Amino acid sequence: MKTNPAIDQMKRGEFLRSLGLSSAALMSFYCLGTTMTACSKSSDPAPATTSTNSTGLTGNADSSKGPVDFTLDLTHADFKSLKTVGGYANVGDIVVANSKGNNIVAIGRICTHQGGNLEYQLADDVFRCNIHQSLYGTDGKVKPNQEATKDVKQYKTILSADGNKLQVKA
Ligand code: FES
Repeated sequence: MKTNPAIDQMKRGEFLRSLGLSSAALMSFYCLGTTMTACSKSSDPAPATTSTNSTGLTGNADSSKGPVDFTLDLTHADFKSLKTVGGYANVGDIVVANSKGNNIVAIGRICTHQGGNLEYQLADDVFRCNIHQSLYGTDGKVKPNQEATKDVKQYKTILSADGNKLQVKA
């Protein structure tokens, strides 16, 4: 039998209210019962990675669309992890990390072997491919004896005096 989702949801809300649940608890039920994406934004912690449509980003972070030159707002939820040693963020086809020694670095994030994603590893101060684990230095140079044999590009990073803006460019 075909049902009207709005009516179903209303009935569910009335039912839950009859149980004496709070608005927050009701919202949780709605989130579970409908699409998770519609409700996940406000309750989930900021993701470790982000896309190029974030409001904390201005400029070009996609090397296929021209020279890379972008600025990140490090007070923005998507990028504030970069203020902490070991934090990193994917921005377009670049990965930016606050590496050991509180030195912010940026390199191409696509592994030159078969296109894996490079993730920063604070313990060894390297980027590791998430597919076959090739290791790259913070300068983008691939370490010896890895599946990957070619380096990724290293980008310049310029941190503002107040530490809240980071420019990354070729
Ligand atoms: S894709 Fe990165 S090592 Fe294979």
